[in-house]
Amino acid sequence: MLNKYSMLYLYKPHIPKKSFDDIKKALNKGNLVYGDNCKKFESDFSNYQNIKYSHAVSSGTAALHLALLALEVSNDDIVFVPDFTWSSTVNVVEIVGATPIFIDVDINNYCMDLNHLDSKLSQYENHPGQKIILPVHQHGYPLEMKKLKKLAKENKCFVVEDAACAIGSEFSNTKVGNFSDIACFSFHPRKVLTTGEGGMVATNNSMLSKKLRRLLNHGFLSDMKEYKFPGLNYRMTESQAILGIHGLEDLDERINLRRELKNEYFESLQCIKGINLPEDNLGHNWQTFLITLDNLINRDELVNSLNNKGINIVKGSNSLSSLDFFIKKYGSNPEVPNSVFISSQGISLPFCEAYSKKEVDLVVENLEKEINNI
Ligand SMILES: Cc1ncc(COP(=O)(O)O)c(C=O)c1O
Repeated sequence: MLNKYSMLYLYKPHIPKKSFDDIKKALNKGNLVYGDNCKKFESDFSNYQNIKYSHAVSSGTAALHLALLALEVSNDDIVFVPDFTWSSTVNVVEIVGATPIFIDVDINNYCMDLNHLDSKLSQYENHPGQKIILPVHQHGYPLEMKKLKKLAKENKCFVVEDAACAIGSEFSNTKVGNFSDIACFSFHPRKVLTTGEGGMVATNNSMLSKKLRRLLNHGFLSDMKEYKFPGLNYRMTESQAILGIHGLEDLDERINLRRELKNEYFESLQCIKGINLPEDNLGHNWQTFLITLDNLINRDELVNSLNNKGINIVKGSNSLSSLDFFIKKYGSNPEVPNSVFISSQGISLPFCEAYSKKEVDLVVENLEKEINNI
């Protein structure tokens, strides 16, 4: 049992031991901004994800912003986004001045519902501007990308994959990020690989790759050369890249540990009444373990009482179109019932490769007790 001073945290960030010495060396040499370590991280990442061109950036949000800028998405364009996701996915759409079209999600894997996407694409068949599909591999679950690509082709859409949570995840034995024009990854501390803040924007298209490099580097291709158009500064730092390089070294082992932990949860949770487990999938990296509670259970009360007992459980993401800003701008949206349900009844359980059956037993025992008390 936890004593009152200890807490079972939602996750522990993975900070590779080897990075301490290397970061010290880099700092001693005065290597701070984008340099050899960033270049190595980009090349190691490309090898790992099997993507031709990778650019290290300051966050997953920066990667998404750059992707839309590279495709020149702006005022007349529409972007199909899942309704249940982290706000970055839609924030960048608003920031470039395009209009988001909210798509409901699958109740079991929390990713974009492709049947709903199909019907929305038909509704916007004659839209005069560009059409972009921005799917999310939610919590690392690999979305059915062959079907999505077929829809994109039939409807002449670009695809930007939000793979923020999905490093290492595979669909049909292919790493995610290879099913789109541009893919975006995040290395926030909750992700399977972390660089503190940080991200990667990746593509198999050399023209887009060059454009992305210029956009993230003040408009220059490298150093101060070949200026063509204005850009931003979204570069990664050397210290971040060192964390990334070492984080990649044992990534597959750590994903396997997560898959084992997921099995422990599946086994222990199946006999608890009132909860629904997520869909299992061999290609899932299990960045997050989110379950939903039946409507009779008061989710917020449960989250509070478990946190008071030292078990750090949190609500999941939001139904984006249900946020006040989007209701005011686009009106209320009756078309996303699954997203609304997951947003109001979802909980993320403590989960990371540093945890084992011991932590799972503690969570499940307390969860069951509290559900029965509420
Ligand atoms: C689905 C999704 N997209 C984008 C992001 C943004 O990544 P970052 O926090 O690195 O900006 C996140 C981060 O949690 C995310 O979960």
